[in-house]
Amino acid sequence: NDGGGSESLTLGFEPVAPTDANQITVPAGYTATVFLPWGTPVTGAYPDFDLQANNTGEQQEQQVGMHHDGMHYFPIDVNEGGSSSTEGLLVVNHEYIDQNAAHPNGPTTLENGDRPADEVRKEIASHGITVAHIKRDSNGQWDLMQSAYNRRITGATPMDLRGPVRGAAKVITPYSTNGTRTRGTLNNCAHGVTPWNTYMMAEENWHGYFVTRDEPKPKEYQRAGVGTESRYDWELADSRADEYVRFDATSTGASATDDYRNEPNGFGFMVEFDPFKPESVPQKRTALGKFGHEGVIFAPATEGEPVVCYSGDDRRFEYIYKFVSAQPYRADTANGSLLDNGTLYVARFNDDGSGEWLPLSMDDAGFVQKMEAAVGTQVGDIQFDEAFANQADLLLNTRLAADIAGATPMDRPEWGAVDPLTREVYFNLTNNSQREEDDTDPANPNGPNPWGHIIRWKEAGGDQSATEFEWDIFVFGGESGTQTVVDGDVVVELDESNQFNSPDGLWFDADRRLWIQTDGRWGDPWGNNMMLASNPDTREIKRFLVGPSNCEVTGVVTTPDQTSMFVGIQHPVAWPEESAEGHPRSSCVVITRDDGGVIGA
Ligand code: FEO
Ligand code: CA
Ligand code: CA
Ligand code: CA
Repeated sequence: NDGGGSESLTLGFEPVAPTDANQITVPAGYTATVFLPWGTPVTGAYPDFDLQANNTGEQQEQQVGMHHDGMHYFPIDVNEGGSSSTEGLLVVNHEYIDQNAAHPNGPTTLENGDRPADEVRKEIASHGITVAHIKRDSNGQWDLMQSAYNRRITGATPMDLRGPVRGAAKVITPYSTNGTRTRGTLNNCAHGVTPWNTYMMAEENWHGYFVTRDEPKPKEYQRAGVGTESRYDWELADSRADEYVRFDATSTGASATDDYRNEPNGFGFMVEFDPFKPESVPQKRTALGKFGHEGVIFAPATEGEPVVCYSGDDRRFEYIYKFVSAQPYRADTANGSLLDNGTLYVARFNDDGSGEWLPLSMDDAGFVQKMEAAVGTQVGDIQFDEAFANQADLLLNTRLAADIAGATPMDRPEWGAVDPLTREVYFNLTNNSQREEDDTDPANPNGPNPWGHIIRWKEAGGDQSATEFEWDIFVFGGESGTQTVVDGDVVVELDESNQFNSPDGLWFDADRRLWIQTDGRWGDPWGNNMMLASNPDTREIKRFLVGPSNCEVTGVVTTPDQTSMFVGIQHPVAWPEESAEGHPRSSCVVITRDDGGVIGA
């Protein structure tokens, strides 16, 4: 590491001790305030939230969704070059739901096994994202505005397919007979922000929303894990409406007339939309691949150079990807079409600390050669009988293409972050309970890996679109005493002030503080899940925040002046206070410093 250094890169707060207190704990001199919890009225008629969860599906479509995750703050004047830290659009992902919290007495199953359609409608509406126009008043308090910018995008919102998969035979459904549209976005874990100030939501564990009873399963569903039962049984809605039976992808599906066997092929993408255009149709950018997208992280864009972004596939033994646009970035014309045409690569981490980006492209002779050699063989669990027909077919089977290319199976890649100064790329490898001791490699050296680690790399020659890189391990998670050793030197030894496990969220602030959020084991000695701040040059790490019981801490952003920080609290069990005995509410929290200073400094 070149230790480029920023004088503003300080971690000036007293670290928070591990705690199992059912509250937000922040350092002395800081205040955390619950903001925009599940159910907050945000659009339309602004229906009041009912603490006992009696709101209808229609009301939920006008309220903040559940299970907050990735988020970003767009200054209200950002498209005019401004950087307002007192007014902006906060965009928040809603990853999944807690059915018990969502309904007064949990989910209902009717005598014939069906589910009441309005419960299903409410659950679909609890997914997606919220756009909230927010403003800081003269007392320093953040408020939600009643604004035409406010928006809910849900599991039912119409979306366009873009890139090579658009119009492919395998995305034709009764809803889109030319394969250009699909309905809704699901399991929006983390996110990304493009260099042209649009937001991207990731579709992570999309496979669990669908069923297929077809045997053999199409290879797309086999590799993804689409099974015979769905996590929420939406396909069993008693209205049998087309918008619900579509979750059954069996070729002779739940509906006698509709064949939704291709429906799951419309999910598993990064989805772009412009929060400043409330009527705009979200765009699924298929060139970035189809897998369990955790999120996407863009390298800072350079005029005249390709746009480069990175995405992890958060499942055990899955991969890290990079996309390089075919067209160069031009600040005055850049838009999402840059993401429709380019090269998708997958990472191989060599044992000697070097790495390679392997193209997944039907235009790449090396890839095509490997693919042709694989035809007729077993690739993982899949009998690979037919070469990919074209790039759309490859992308619908991105994981399989990456298997064929020879990528390195990782310990669950969650969020990534690009150092704004050095351009090094950091990725959280959250944990991997199933890695065997004899199946480790230097990039994933622990078998099993219960506590996770953070890997980082630098692209060759400082060129973000290079096809080679050099990697090292930034830090290993673990209990007090866990060491990270480089060339025989102990570069980190965790203690009580910074022990952590299962790094998940990861984000660089403008001063290059690297914020690390956890989604792992709680209880002794860990306390609850947490957020830490670190210095990428020195590897100093300090615990900044501990969340309430059972939650994960996920999603973090500040205002440009860094005096307000927004953090996501997902799946608490008895929080916030007024929900302690009823229906817990995932939420954002706003963190400010009592002296008005920079968060973390
Ligand atoms: Fe949704 Fe990978 O966390
Ligand atoms: Ca989560
Ligand atoms: Ca996550
Ligand atoms: Ca996680």
